[in-house]
Amino acid sequence: MRRPQSLKEQIIEYWDKAGLCSFDSPTSNADPYLVSCDNFVESRFLEELLETSGISKQDASGIDIGAGLGRFTIILAKHLKLVHALEPASSLYSKLVANCADFSNIKAINTDFESFDTQNDYNIAVVSGVLYLYSDDMVHELLKKVANHLKPGGLVVIRDFIVEDELKQIPSSYINGGFCYYRLSHYWRDLAQEFSLELSEIFQSKPSYPMPKLLGLTSRLGLARVFSASIAKKLMYQNTKSKREKGILDFHSSPILTVFMVMRRKQ
Ligand SMILES: C[S@@+](CC[C@H](N)C(=O)[O-])C[C@H]1O[C@@H](n2cnc3c(N)ncnc32)[C@H](O)[C@@H]1O
Repeated sequence: MRRPQSLKEQIIEYWDKAGLCSFDSPTSNADPYLVSCDNFVESRFLEELLETSGISKQDASGIDIGAGLGRFTIILAKHLKLVHALEPASSLYSKLVANCADFSNIKAINTDFESFDTQNDYNIAVVSGVLYLYSDDMVHELLKKVANHLKPGGLVVIRDFIVEDELKQIPSSYINGGFCYYRLSHYWRDLAQEFSLELSEIFQSKPSYPMPKLLGLTSRLGLARVFSASIAKKLMYQNTKSKREKGILDFHSSPILTVFMVMRRKQ
């Protein structure tokens, strides 16, 4: 008889079957033009974090936990000596290996982070699009292990979702018995503190598009194509960067924001 699957196993099976809709995309179903613009902006922010972090290429290593198709793995590889890219969903793992083939400093591994017996301590860990499906206990265990494998001064970059007032826990439409957790920034701050990490910054990683209520329609009519133009991407990046500089989290544009949360292990 088949053993019941854990929540983590169900989540990984979901990603294995659903896949991701393009190299740019962290999800299985999205407008290709919008994800292209989103990825342009998010990639620049990750690059800036690497450039300003003082992590030197000479001896630095990183880990991309839930690498998907490798959009962030490749950015890490351009800045670091060694990158471990963990992807437990086999169908994504084989594409990840192909996408990273030009980088001899990327080691892709077909496993989940909890089962990964690493001897390394890292200068940076990226966890993007993983934790919103995780219960509090699972997030706790994962972050504890990340913190234990960070070098002093090392960074954790979590890309996840936040809400303004109250935890939103919405039954997942694709994980049986699972939830999507949209947490408060306090939750992340307290968690970081518990593991001697300092939450130095939370900022919107994706642009707020004009007329958000009409975005679905814009998408269906194919009009979102305008956001894939190079000039539009640059404008959306400037606009999102300016919000970051002013410390604005634009909950008017959406009650659930996609954010980068930057945590640093104390020296
Ligand atoms: C939403 S996708 C995001 C992919 C990529 N990080 C991005 O932002 O484009 C989440 C990925 O995390 C993987 N994943 C889920 N739980 C994981 C775990 N415990 N350890 C490592 N990877 C995990 C899934 O298989 C899936 O490919």
